Amino acid sequence: MPKSLAVRKAQLGKTDKIQMSSQVIASTRNRARALTEAEISDIEHEKTLYPDNQAVGLEALKIVQNYQGWVSDESLLAIAEYLNLSVADLEGVATFFNLIYRQPVGKNVILFCDSVSCWICRGDDIKDYLSDKLKIDYGQTTEDNEFTLIPIPCLGDCNNAPVMMVGQDLHRNLTKTGIDEIIDQYRNKSA
Ligand code: FES
Repeated sequence: MPKSLAVRKAQLGKTDKIQMSSQVIASTRNRARALTEAEISDIEHEKTLYPDNQAVGLEALKIVQNYQGWVSDESLLAIAEYLNLSVADLEGVATFFNLIYRQPVGKNVILFCDSVSCWICRGDDIKDYLSDKLKIDYGQTTEDNEFTLIPIPCLGDCNNAPVMMVGQDLHRNLTKTGIDEIIDQYRNKSA
């Protein structure tokens, strides 16, 4: 792995661990909110598909995020209580899966591939261009709340690197001009 990439991944890992421990502490200080009927209904459905509540935890996090946009401490506690799971264990699951958002995110979440094929195809240059354009780095949200930028391991489309997702849309063969067009496209949707 190129040195700069290895160093950056190590830095991200360290930051994640610090955030995780602070989140666990924060979670225990807050009260659970009431899950909505829709959330409970969806979680109950998942319970019919898995052998135990431990296995349902990740799906429950996804369900709550789908309805709420992110998973607050209060939501995490609510899920833990509802499924009778340890808060620390559920926090561990939420932290491990970087598509579970433990902070509010923007209207459009950009998942920028941070893996080797995209890196070799100058993905770092494109990411820097995107960061400069939006004035945000990984883990940050634009001031207008339109975009959140998150690194993600291989998106499975290495032949078309560099690659990123915006919401559910995959964008391939990224160029600086392409980034301009893609960002305009999402800004126009919001206008
Ligand atoms: S490395 Fe980027 S899509 Fe595979």
